[in-house]
Amino acid sequence: MLLLKDEMPLVAMEFMNAVHLEDIEIINELFALIVAYDKGKSSIEEINQKYQEWIAHTVEHFRGEEVMMVEKGFPPYAMHKGEHDRALDEMRGIFQEWQKTMDSSVLKIYLIEVLPFWLINHINTMDTVTARFFDTGFSPCGIAH
Ligand SMILES: [Fe+2]
Ligand SMILES: [Fe+2]
Repeated sequence: MLLLKDEMPLVAMEFMNAVHLEDIEIINELFALIVAYDKGKSSIEEINQKYQEWIAHTVEHFRGEEVMMVEKGFPPYAMHKGEHDRALDEMRGIFQEWQKTMDSSVLKIYLIEVLPFWLINHINTMDTVTARFFDTGFSPCGIAH
C-alpha cells in the first residue's frame, strides 16, 4: 500500500473527501499492480487499464472542484486550476513515458517519490482553503462571499 487513508487530510467539504478517498484507492490498486508486474504476476494491460481509470477519475475529481469554484466565485480559481492542469499533464506524461520505455521504474519513481508528496500537499493547501471557502465564504484574498 502506497498511501494510507488515515494520513489523508480531511477538508471542510464531504464531497471532496469522498473523491480523495476514491483517488487513494485507485492509486493503491495501481501501485499493487506495478509491484505484481515486477514479479510476473500482472500484465501491462492491467496496469494501463488502471492508469487510464486513474486519469479519468482525476479529470472528474478536478472538474468537480473547478465547477464549484466558478459557481461560488472563488477568487484564486486560476491558481488552483493551474495546479490541476499541471498535475494532469505530468500524470499523462508519465504514462506516455511508460508506454515508450516499458520500464516500470518510471511508474514507481513517480508514484513513490513525486505523487504522494504532491497529493497530500495539494489537499493540505489549495483544497483545504477552497473547501473552507465553499463552507464559510472565507477567502484567503479577504473577499467575503
Ligand atoms: Fe482535490
Ligand atoms: Fe484541487
